[in-house]
Order: sequence, then structure tokens, then C-alpha cells
Amino acid sequence: MGEDIMQIGKWASILALGTAVATCLAAPIAASAGELASSERTILADGMGMMGGMGMHRNMMQQMMGGVLPPGIDPARLPESDSSGAHLLKQFCMQCHNLPGPGMHTASEWPHVLGRMNMRMQMMGGMMGFVAPDPVQLKILLGYLQRHAQKPIDAATYPDLDTPPGRAFSTTCMQCHALPDPKQHTAQEWPAVVARMHGNMAAMGKNIPDETTTDEIVEFLQRHGAAQK
Ligand code: HEC
Ligand code: HEC
Repeated sequence: MGEDIMQIGKWASILALGTAVATCLAAPIAASAGELASSERTILADGMGMMGGMGMHRNMMQQMMGGVLPPGIDPARLPESDSSGAHLLKQFCMQCHNLPGPGMHTASEWPHVLGRMNMRMQMMGGMMGFVAPDPVQLKILLGYLQRHAQKPIDAATYPDLDTPPGRAFSTTCMQCHALPDPKQHTAQEWPAVVARMHGNMAAMGKNIPDETTTDEIVEFLQRHGAAQK
């Protein structure tokens, strides 16, 4: 009973705090609203408006908006994990949601996505401990994300994309990012990557293929994988 009241008190203060930032958040959201899906706009208006961007409520946001937020990558798994790019990513990009892996976008997509995130950070910068990158840091971030970005497949060089395993691979692996180039990993590496992707699918509420289909996809990737390192 007493705990319930504490809970209510906590939620009330969260909401009050949320209202304070809502005004600031509304601007970047409005500015980018044109590029957001209408369903997402509703989420942003209802949920994000109140709590969006508050690092301390990252978990809550992740639960509410998991479908549109990065599912998160283990910081130790970041490529060049000790580089300044990786450090900046950890410093800035976990303020509102889980750590985004560079593989979520291709090199040509990142400038646009990073621009949208930067807009949010600039608006929130200085408020309640939020920090925004300066131009030099932004450049390092972009270089890092692009260097380790998702490499899209060159479909023309894979005629067997139009076979049942190829189609299973396409349908499954295009749900969140560009269809990956199988040459990004060796046959040995692919099973673990696909297993991690199943985790991402669960976190983002996407379709997870059954075991037989998963085996087909892994075999397709292994057949076309990079030569043993
Ligand atoms: C001020 C809060 C905030 C910060 C800081 C932030 N993000 Fe986001 N991010 C969001 C919100 C809100 C969404 C969901 C709506 C959207 O996609 O715009 C999102 C979604 C994403 C997505 C998934 C959507 C997509 O287009 O792929 C990626 C990737 C992403 N952020 C990357 C980053 C990176 C990289 C950084 C650091 C440079 C960062 N974010 C920092 C608020 C933030
Ligand atoms: C639910 C969304 C989602 C789906 C579906 C998805 N991925 Fe990913 N993928 C991600 C995210 C998020 C990242 C960045 C974080 C990470 O690396 O785990 C990523 C990164 C990657 C990377 C770059 C990182 C690395 O380890 O090389 C590859 C390659 C990749 N995905 C392959 C695939 C393949 C193959 C499939 C289909 C079996 C697939 N993805 C399906 C979300 C998804």
C-alpha cells in the first residue's frame, strides 16, 4: 500500500519533469515530423513528448518505443571499441536509448539519421545534464558510423537471391536495415551474427523465422561468405 503511493508519487514527478522538457522536444519533433511515419508521430506526441530524451528514463522509453529505438549492442562488441568514435557513441547515443550499432544503417543513410539525432541533442543540450556534440565530435561520430556501416548487398551479383533460401534471406534480413552483403562475414562467423539478429528481432517486435528457415538463411550466407581469414 505505502509502496503504491510511493510509485504514484514517482510517476507524478516523472510526468511533471516530462512536461518541462516537452516544449523543447516538440520543436525538433515538429521539424522532423515530415519524415516520420504517422504512427511514430503519434508515439512521439504521446510518449516522447512527455518523457522523450530523458536519459534517466531510458529503460522506460525503451519499453514504450522498442519498435523504433535501437535494440542495443554490447559496448564491448563495438568495432574499434577503444577509438574516439566508439567513445563518443557511448557518451552521446545512450542518453535516450540503448547503444545503436553502426550496422543499423548504410554509409549513405547515416548522415540523415545522425542529423536527426543531433537536432534532438542540440535542442536538449544543457538541460538536465543532457550533452550535445560539438562540430568536431559530430564529424568523428559520422566518420566512425560510416566506416563500420552496414554494407548493402549488390543484388545483381547474386542470381540465387531469387530461390527459396535467397527469398527467405531477403524477407527476413531487410526488415530493419539494408539487405546485408554476405561477404561481411566468414562461414564460421555467420551463425553467431544471425543468432544476435534474432535477439534484435525479438527486441524490436519483428518476424522471427522458424528453425528450418533460419538454417536456410545461414546456409545461404555461408555459401556466399567471405573467405576464411
Ligand atoms: C535526445 C534523445 C536522443 C539521443 C541523444 C539520441 N537519440 Fe537516437 N533516437 C531518439 C528517438 C526519439 C528515436 C526514435 C524516433 C526516430 O527514429 O527519430 C531514436 C531512434 C534512433 C535510431 C533508430 C531509428 C533509425 O532511424 O534507425 C537510431 C539508429 C538512432 N536513434 C541512433 C542514434 C545515434 C547514433 C545517436 C548518437 C549520435 C542517438 N541516436 C542519440 C532519440 C535520441
Ligand atoms: C529487428 C531488426 C533487425 C533484423 C530483422 C536484422 N537485423 Fe541485422 N542489425 C540490426 C541491428 C540493430 C544492428 C546493429 C546492432 C548489432 O550489430 O547487433 C544490426 C547489424 C547487422 C550487421 C552488422 C554488424 C555485424 O555483426 O556485422 C549485420 C552483418 C547484420 N545486421 C546482418 C543481418 C542479417 C543477416 C539478418 C537476417 C538474418 C539481419 N541482420 C536482420 C537489426 C536487425
